[in-house]
This record gives sequence, structure tokens and C-alpha cells, in this order.
Amino acid sequence: MEANMPKRKEPGKSLRIKVISMGNAEVGKSCIIKRYCEKRFVSKYLATIGIDYGVTKVQVRDREIKVNIFDMAGHPFFYEVRNEFYKDTQGVILVYDVGQKDSFDALDAWLAEMKQDLGPHGNMENIVFVVCANKIDCTKHRCVDESEGRLWAESKGFLYFETSAQTGEGINEMFQTFYVSIVDLCENGGKRPITNSSASFTKEQADTIRRIRNSKDSWDMLGVKPGASRDEVNKAYRRLAVLLHPDKCVAPGSEDAFKAVVNARTALLKNIK
Ligand code: GTP
Ligand code: MG
Repeated sequence: MEANMPKRKEPGKSLRIKVISMGNAEVGKSCIIKRYCEKRFVSKYLATIGIDYGVTKVQVRDREIKVNIFDMAGHPFFYEVRNEFYKDTQGVILVYDVGQKDSFDALDAWLAEMKQDLGPHGNMENIVFVVCANKIDCTKHRCVDESEGRLWAESKGFLYFETSAQTGEGINEMFQTFYVSIVDLCENGGKRPITNSSASFTKEQADTIRRIRNSKDSWDMLGVKPGASRDEVNKAYRRLAVLLHPDKCVAPGSEDAFKAVVNARTALLKNIK
């Protein structure tokens, strides 16, 4: 049996799973769990010390699922405490705060911490990950938009939800889809089912959209040297247009990236004789 396959008492009926929360301190991990389990929100920040543990029961189709939730502290200080809790996990709730770019950028480091602690024999392929873009109620401070978060999640084959622990938006839908996916995974022999979204765009498309987002000017966006000729600009444009055309590319953010490329080409051609 795979190392992190869950324990079953009665095959086909009850199931015990382990779920952990991950993400920087103060992004709202504990509040998301509290909102779902206790239907309430606490606005005062009470940092989790080490790990909080809870058990809940949910029903998925004909199965009763006993969920052991390990809510981790995000502060680096608790690394030593966290590292023994990564193993034998079937589901990870990966949280960032849409108003804190650092917390989004840190998601890769969280995956790396987990991978390192699982060791060379640990397998992250048979774990369901759900990414929560949290605090969407704080619209004024938002700096990571939906397409950026969705692109990161979906290009890794992870689920993605926009959530607010404060208003409750997205929380039930997130947990419901998360638990159904874990049950599907268990019934699929421990293999993560391929989601439509992860199968529908390529790594090249995802990387190109990210590169376009982070480009510093129109030259950079088209991937040509400053001072390039009309021909070079047109050639680069055509390549990107084929890759990102909204009729062909369904990666999150492709429409905006395509528009940006069209505008960059127009701006450059205006000034090239
Ligand atoms: P650590 O336990 O330190 O890792 O933090 P955490 O990720 O568990 O954060 P926690 O759930 O304790 O929430 C941190 C702060 O953010 C608290 O003051 C919460 O009230 C607030 N908060 C959490 N979720 C939301 C949300 O969706 N919207 C708003 N506006 N505030 C939130
Ligand atoms: Mg916490």
C-alpha cells in the first residue's frame, strides 16, 4: 500500500483521512478551518502555537469520512514542530492572503518544506492540494489577482478557491470539493485524478503568461532586444499570438496576456521605421 493511503475500517464505507493546513503566518488558516467547523469568525489574531488538532466527520456520497485536521503554525519559528506532521497526509489546504504578495510567493517554499520533510521516498503526487486565495473581502488591499493565483494552482494540478473566512465566501464549496477529491483519490488507488483544467494548458503557456506579467517594457514582453526590427517584432508577436490566442489557450490570464502582447506590438511598430 502507498505510504500515505488512508486507513480504512470498513472498505467502501467509512474512511479516515489526514488533512493539514499550510501557508505563511496570519494568512487565515485557522480562521478558514474555524469558519467551516464552527461557523464563526474571530477577528483578533491568535497565532497558532505549533499545531492545533481537531477531528470532524463529513459525508461524501455514501461514505462517512473522519477527518483529522492538523492546523499548522505558519511562523518560521515552528519549523521543528511542523516537520513531523507532514507524513501520511491525504489533503493539504495551502493558504495565502490576496493582499500579501509575499504570502503568495512563499507557496513554493511551503511545498519545498513539505517535500524535504517527506524525504526521498515521500510522494506528493498522491495528495490533494487545494489553494485558498484568502481575505478576498479586503478588496482595497488586493495585490494578487485571481488569474495569477489560479494559474499557479492549476498548472500544478491543484484545486483553487477564492475564500473569505470573514464572510464565509467560498469556504463550504472549497471543503466540499476538497473532500470529494480526496475520496476520488482514495477510490482511484491513491492517484490524483487528472482535473480538466490541469490537462488543458501547457507549461509553456503558463510560463509565458507569467513572463508577460513580469515584463518590464514592450520589448521585454515580446521577448526581443530593444531596437529590434519590424520583422523581428512581428515574428515574436506571431509566435506569442499562436501560443496565447484565447480561442486556443484556456490558461488563466491568457486573455489579458494576449491583449498585452497586441498592445506591445502596436506600441513598438509605431516607433520603428
Ligand atoms: P498562524 O496560526 O500564525 O500561522 O496564522 P493563521 O494563518 O492561522 O491566521 P489566522 O487564521 O489566525 O488569521 C490571521 C488574522 O487574519 C486574524 O486577525 C483573522 O481575523 C484575519 N483573517 C483571517 N481570515 C480572514 C479573511 O478572510 N478576511 C479578513 N478580513 N481577515 C481574515
Ligand atoms: Mg493559525
